[in-house]
Amino acid sequence: MSEPVLSGRGLVKRFGVTVALDGVDLAVDRAEAVAIMGPSGSGKSTLLHCLAGILPPDAGEVHLLGQRIDTLGERRRSALRRSRFGFVFQFGQLLPELPAVENVALPLMLGGTSRREAEQAARSWFRPLGLDGLERRRPGELSGGQAQRVAIARALVPRPAVVFADEPTGALDQATGHDTMRLLVDATKHNGASLVVVTHDPAVAAWCDRVLEVRDGRIQHPMRRTA
Ligand SMILES: Nc1ncnc2c1ncn2[C@@H]1O[C@H](COP(=O)(O)OP(=O)(O)OP(=O)(O)O)[C@@H](O)[C@H]1O
Ligand SMILES: [Mg+2]
Repeated sequence: MSEPVLSGRGLVKRFGVTVALDGVDLAVDRAEAVAIMGPSGSGKSTLLHCLAGILPPDAGEVHLLGQRIDTLGERRRSALRRSRFGFVFQFGQLLPELPAVENVALPLMLGGTSRREAEQAARSWFRPLGLDGLERRRPGELSGGQAQRVAIARALVPRPAVVFADEPTGALDQATGHDTMRLLVDATKHNGASLVVVTHDPAVAAWCDRVLEVRDGRIQHPMRRTA
């Protein structure tokens, strides 16, 4: 069996007396799409943040492509997030003063690519994501669905190993949300990236390869479900 792209082992995260993660084990394969579901407050976002190196776990380990990443310093974790991970979150992720194409080019430029090359790479994402002609629009001049597609382009442009998405369509109407999620699942897979997506929507979960249910900071194994 090939090694998983991303794995978490025995992840524990506490906030004061709250145990947000209570020993989570998880492995994500290459180009696999994993949906994380579960009630509000069950630990889904905390799990995503620990896996993505945003939040250090109190116990346990996170490995990316065979390398342990949870013990790296903040500088190296942030470089890793920029080069190996893509993020699609719900709100406020595009810089309002920059045209769409510059928003998409930004992660590459932060990684040292020249502006010209970065914008060229950024432009190539607009047509496949149905954004043709919107390159110079600012986020405030885009619909919610278009802005989320720009965010998807921005997450994919550095060719990340893993894309993390946390309820990325919560602010959209259902039809637009579904179209956007379908695009996210298909585009990450098409690019050989793995996807870890938190969603409350069973339709979205159904498009993923696997659905994990988080309850009280633990992953519920369907075979052992008691309720
Ligand atoms: N920064 C924080 N400080 C204190 N408590 C926190 C913090 N972040 C999360 N928590 C707590 O940890 C638990 C898990 O929170 P988390 O955000 O992971 O839930 P979630 O499953 O993403 O919920 P939702 O579906 O509402 O987004 C909750 O009890 C929450 O109140
Ligand atoms: Mg959450």
